[in-house]
Amino acid sequence: MKDLFPKIMLTHTDGVIDLAWGHPSENLHPLSALQPAIDSIFANDDVAALQYSGYQGYGPLIESLSQYLSDEPSYTNKIEGRELYLGYGASHGLDLACTLFTKTGDTVLVEEPSYYLVRQILIDHGLTIVGVPTDNEGMVTEDLEQIIQSHKNSVKLLYLIPSYHNPMGSVMSHARREKIIELADKYNFLIAADEAYHLLYYYDPPPPTMASLANSDQGSVVSLGSFSKILAPGIKLGWVQSKPSLVDKFTNSGANFSGGNNNFAAAIVDIAIRKGILSKHINLLRRTYRSRMEVMATALETHIPDAKFCKPHGGYYFWITFPEQIDALVLEKYALEEGVTLRPGVAFSGENLFSNCIRLCFALSDIEQIPEGIYRLSKAYSRHVLG
Ligand SMILES: Cc1ncc(COP(=O)(O)O)c(C=O)c1O
Repeated sequence: MKDLFPKIMLTHTDGVIDLAWGHPSENLHPLSALQPAIDSIFANDDVAALQYSGYQGYGPLIESLSQYLSDEPSYTNKIEGRELYLGYGASHGLDLACTLFTKTGDTVLVEEPSYYLVRQILIDHGLTIVGVPTDNEGMVTEDLEQIIQSHKNSVKLLYLIPSYHNPMGSVMSHARREKIIELADKYNFLIAADEAYHLLYYYDPPPPTMASLANSDQGSVVSLGSFSKILAPGIKLGWVQSKPSLVDKFTNSGANFSGGNNNFAAAIVDIAIRKGILSKHINLLRRTYRSRMEVMATALETHIPDAKFCKPHGGYYFWITFPEQIDALVLEKYALEEGVTLRPGVAFSGENLFSNCIRLCFALSDIEQIPEGIYRLSKAYSRHVLG
């Protein structure tokens, strides 16, 4: 029986291998690793953890996080505390950016394809969503400039996922990042860079975050970081990285006047950073996901030679393109009958594109399940091809 008020978002069907949901597997939740951090709040009678936080967020975490990011190879420059605002996740950061920097009727540009679950945030704010063609290096900047020009002065926001894209798994090149910042300056719009996967790299670090690349005079860039993918989604805590004048706008937003966000979780994460729990957990995730990703790539090559993909170097996802005649919605139906789930590509498009593409996630299912999941998918694929 379905729970009327479910504890968690994803639903699981016995016997089905889940390659659809972008959630971590149960055995990767750091329950025991976080225990010392939680215990220390009680052991030290840290009542501040239960009080309203400062407007910018829980001060000790702003300090420990700025130090953590400054030491991180994928950040390249020192991050000051005044460049960070603590919110409850990347989605919240985007929602606040829309509140603060857009009004109903403005145009927001998004990658085509893009993360489907943020679309509703943009719709909630009455924004007109326009897709920009995207290749393996990110948004195609020539197309981007043309689209900006054709929408005259209405473009106020650009939402993109530069590192380990959802759904494409790709990384935007350094050159494209700089070019897009240049365009934001020239045409006067805000870039909201969703960097939820930025720290989840499996080989070399990605280029610096968009906010790190924008120098202090330059524009309007906010990088949205999150603990959801590097610690646990249930923590629901994240940060906005930007220049101090923009961080102040987030800090001074009305919803903060009754106190900053999620102080208790912030106190736990602060201790997790100071005790080295976070960096140990990120290393575990990097090793685990990298192995799963390699196994999935090999299984795809072995069982479905028609599947075209680039191996993701971080994040959670494979983006797979099949021959034109394949309809991913039909494949999804056959796949479920064979006992495996996937996300059809069309879900990530505002323009009904990518009907022959699918997204596969290697975060939720364990390594032993992945080859079997791909084998089942190959059976579904053969059924579809034989029609
Ligand atoms: C690109 C992207 N952004 C944001 C999120 C959600 O992040 P948060 O939990 O920090 O709101 C996800 C989760 O799947 C995601 O894939």
